[in-house]
Amino acid sequence: MHQTVKDYYGKILNNSGDLKTNACCDATQVPMWLKPLLANIHDDVQSRYYGCGLICPPLLEGRRVLDLGCGSGRDVFALAQLAGRRGEVVGVDMTEEQLAFAEQHREHHSRVFGFKNVSFHLGYIENLEDLPLEPGSFDVIVSNCVVNLSPDKNAVMKGVHRLLKEGGEFYFSDVYADRRIPESVANDPVLYGECLGGALYWNDFVRLATRQGFIDPRLVDDRPLVVTEPVLLKKLGAVKFHSATYRLFKLRELESACEDYGQAVVYRGTIPEHQGRFVLDRHHNIETGKVFPVCGNTWRMLHETRFASHFDFIGNFNTHYGIFPGCGGGIPFKSEEGKALKSCC
Ligand SMILES: C[S@@+](CC[C@H](N)C(=O)[O-])C[C@H]1O[C@@H](n2cnc3c(N)ncnc32)[C@H](O)[C@@H]1O
Repeated sequence: MHQTVKDYYGKILNNSGDLKTNACCDATQVPMWLKPLLANIHDDVQSRYYGCGLICPPLLEGRRVLDLGCGSGRDVFALAQLAGRRGEVVGVDMTEEQLAFAEQHREHHSRVFGFKNVSFHLGYIENLEDLPLEPGSFDVIVSNCVVNLSPDKNAVMKGVHRLLKEGGEFYFSDVYADRRIPESVANDPVLYGECLGGALYWNDFVRLATRQGFIDPRLVDDRPLVVTEPVLLKKLGAVKFHSATYRLFKLRELESACEDYGQAVVYRGTIPEHQGRFVLDRHHNIETGKVFPVCGNTWRMLHETRFASHFDFIGNFNTHYGIFPGCGGGIPFKSEEGKALKSCC
């Protein structure tokens, strides 16, 4: 499938308007604080944006960030402004045309930003070990609508885990299906190129991530995808797709379930652009100043990561009170009517 995808993104598509579905074309509302940063990005780069979500996690200043499947570089150039002159953003993509386009616009963006902190590598996200990237050297790895296109998602997760620092996170948007995809859909070159054919069944993704050391994946945001093109719709049958942003922390002590140790956190309101509240994920919308009960895993996601200095922590791991209330199974995504299908912490 590598060649099919390279042809799709390198030769068939010229800009976002050529896409046949809204899978690789993000409808997420851009927050106000991000708009001026996006306005600094060259129009030609913006017009070749094929992402499906918003991959701007907070607290990137001075951090090392890697973007997998960076395409023409829109997210790299946005994140470069957040990482600043003391930080660094590296983009990886396998399609020469996409990467050449990003590279051509590197100097322009350095001039606009007033510093150089971006580099690009041609390569496969399944073979990150072939690139000159130091293991354990990235604070944050992002990706926007790419992992579904990979024929070896286990290798991608393994490579990401190897490159992250302990306490680092993989924050990425991708497409998921509500069931395992039939072969007729998986083998269709257009459906594959449009980020549908290679999408994982969401629960297989959770298993795969866990197997590669990313325990307790956290869903940040999602939206149902709408396919209206009649020929594609017929091919897809009953399969439904969702674009979703997950954050996966590299924390060796996370537990497979959310356990209750009677702990709580208080957010100090000190993360830039997130003064009133901090949203860790769909189930943790943490208001500034309010005592917020958390499970042991959430505690670690805040205490053993770059977020630590922005919280006060109450309690410890000395007493276990059983399973943390509110955890459950079931599809975690919103339905087309906008309601969460089932809650899970
Ligand atoms: C849907 S586009 C998204 C591009 C970019 N993230 C954006 O938001 O505009 C997918 C990109 O992933 C790249 N890609 C797909 N599979 C890849 C792989 N196995 N290794 C490296 N890059 C890959 C493609 O070349 C393409 O540029």
